[in-house]
Amino acid sequence: MAKKEVLALKGLSFSYAGKAQKALDSVTLTFSEGEFVGIIGPVGSGKTTLLCCCNGLVPKEIRGKFEGRVKFLGNDLARMGFPEISRAASMVFQDPNDQIFNLTVEEEVAFGLLNRGMPRDEALAAARAAVARVGLSEKLHEDPSELSSGQKQMVAIACALAADSRVILLDEPVSSLDWRSSQEVYSILDALAREGRTVIATEQDTSLLSRHATRIIVIDQGRVAADGSARLLTASLIEKLGLRPPAAVARRRKK
Ligand SMILES: Nc1ncnc2c1ncn2[C@@H]1O[C@H](COP(=O)(O)OP(=O)(O)OP(=O)(O)O)[C@@H](O)[C@H]1O
Ligand SMILES: [Mg+2]
Repeated sequence: MAKKEVLALKGLSFSYAGKAQKALDSVTLTFSEGEFVGIIGPVGSGKTTLLCCCNGLVPKEIRGKFEGRVKFLGNDLARMGFPEISRAASMVFQDPNDQIFNLTVEEEVAFGLLNRGMPRDEALAAARAAVARVGLSEKLHEDPSELSSGQKQMVAIACALAADSRVILLDEPVSSLDWRSSQEVYSILDALAREGRTVIATEQDTSLLSRHATRIIVIDQGRVAADGSARLLTASLIEKLGLRPPAAVARRRKK
């Protein structure tokens, strides 16, 4: 049975204010529940911009020339406010320092829920559950700005979990993490996709995506250059895009 469509991007084009060149050019994509989508592409190809369209930051906060529609369960994101959008889609930014500003991990994770108007007790309980899920319970009352990069990344993921968003957007979530923490992040993402959430992650390193993503989208110069299964990740494509190959592909090439 076809999985339910959650997010639809229709004819999206965007150029940042003051720039003639399009960061995104006629992008049409749909995402369904339970999909684990990897977005790859060269530096500057539009991956981050694409994620920012999925959570309304473009064009609501990031200005420029925007064309097209983003729909969540059939509702136009343009007509939704950010508290409502947070139920639809949450973003884990590439640099967790960009999104961490509360004094304790618990407050940080509860923040979005309190903003939505959730009673404080309920919000803190949901925050504690999300923090436990990413294995950081012992840091609950610590200052998140003093955690390691990996732990900050986990706090950012806990925020998305607490928000209970249907779509979880992650911009190069493991770029500053060691191998073990990266695998921990990806196993949490696997579990979220199995629960029916839609996980959309950009990466430069294709190793983890090749093993976890159920679908790979290649973005090149703001356009969708390819969209299919992880088998798309052939050595020649990866080389063409200038990306780091999965270990298995690198080994095959050495032989
Ligand atoms: N804040 C901004 N202001 C102006 N132009 C921007 C801004 N952010 C990105 N761009 C431009 O938009 C295009 C797409 O950038 P984007 O950050 O989406 O690419 P990316 O694929 O995420 O790159 P990377 O792999 O380096 O993260 C680039 O040409 C970039 O220069
Ligand atoms: Mg980027």
